[in-house]
Amino acid sequence: MFSSRGRSSGRDRDGKKQTLDYRYQLTRDLLTNLHRGECCAVIGVGSCGKSRLLLHLSRPETLEYHLGDGAEDHIIVTVQCNAFMGDTAWHAYEGITRNFMEAINTSDHPQVDRLRRDLEPMYQAVKDDKDVAFRHVADGISYLLSKTRIKLTLCFDEFDFVFEKFDAQLFRNLRALRNANKYQLTYLLAVRQQLPYQRDPESWADVEEFYELFSDNSFAIGPYDERDAGEMIADLERRYEFRLKKETRDLLYEITGGHSGLIGASFRVLETAKQAPTNAREMERLLLNEQSNYKECRKIWDSLLRDECNALRRLALNQRMNREEQNALGSLKAKGLIRDGQRGGVVIFSPIFYEFARVQEEAR
Ligand SMILES: Nc1ncnc2c1ncn2[C@@H]1O[C@H](COP(=O)(O)OP(=O)(O)OP(=O)(O)O)[C@@H](O)[C@H]1O
Ligand SMILES: [Mg+2]
Repeated sequence: MFSSRGRSSGRDRDGKKQTLDYRYQLTRDLLTNLHRGECCAVIGVGSCGKSRLLLHLSRPETLEYHLGDGAEDHIIVTVQCNAFMGDTAWHAYEGITRNFMEAINTSDHPQVDRLRRDLEPMYQAVKDDKDVAFRHVADGISYLLSKTRIKLTLCFDEFDFVFEKFDAQLFRNLRALRNANKYQLTYLLAVRQQLPYQRDPESWADVEEFYELFSDNSFAIGPYDERDAGEMIADLERRYEFRLKKETRDLLYEITGGHSGLIGASFRVLETAKQAPTNAREMERLLLNEQSNYKECRKIWDSLLRDECNALRRLALNQRMNREEQNALGSLKAKGLIRDGQRGGVVIFSPIFYEFARVQEEAR
């Protein structure tokens, strides 16, 4: 299969590569939809593993595993929005082009090979002609796609602040670029909040054409299931050289609910204290109300909409919910923050987060 050489080998900066069946269903749904030409969004709270998923999706072996032969002509380019060097549309074009050219320069796809020289001036042109930078982006991408059968996905990671702050023209242009290359060019967004809530409601109309691209294919991403959490814990054990018994691992999964930020923070607490409890009470003593876990909970909380926060708070306090809060239960469930309880009703996904939610002020 053809790939970007730079990305296909080696390990992640902070750990082992994911196994091929990591986030199996979500990965498959996303890749299948992108391959059909649909734009997609992944929505999940802070530190639930969105960047990790994007990294996994962009690996050639993942594409091949899920798409078979179709993977050959599909190129995924990750655009790290938090690496943009400013907050104008031009900074976005510069970032897109930088990541796009990196993928072109490391790809071993024979069709890309033939066109590489023609595309080479693109980055310099974007830098030199700031006023017409979008034209250069559009020309370069459209040139590649019109001369090949390639499907290109631009994955925008950490997209919330871009959608919140950048001028509406950027989104109109991205929509136009997509229209000009329909089904060959797709976007995948990773966001903490569902679109368009990042933006002031007054400007929603200006960006509607862009965000409606994602309305049919928005996927919530929740905490890990037991298998993926087990792999993460095993990875931490290897890296920190701190081995846990199965009972401790199970308790860690239970108390964190599988949220990767909470797993990481809790594991580090145990490792620092050199404690590996094998009973629930001891685990709770060490991890409930612990400072670094509290920070992770805050990140989750800050990713949620007002009604979602209030619904969680009411649930934790066992209070009645108003209609809006009731309505928020659907998205909370999709994001994996509440689950069906054993005795009917719903429960909060993690005892650590439950304790946190209980002491929050009502959100306004
Ligand atoms: N399978 C895993 N193995 C090891 N570490 C992991 C794994 N999954 C997630 N992590 C770690 O958990 C943390 C959160 O993951 P990640 O950064 O992917 O979340 P995110 O949803 O992108 O967060 P944010 O909303 O802040 O962008 C990171 O430090 C990441 O390295
Ligand atoms: Mg991220």
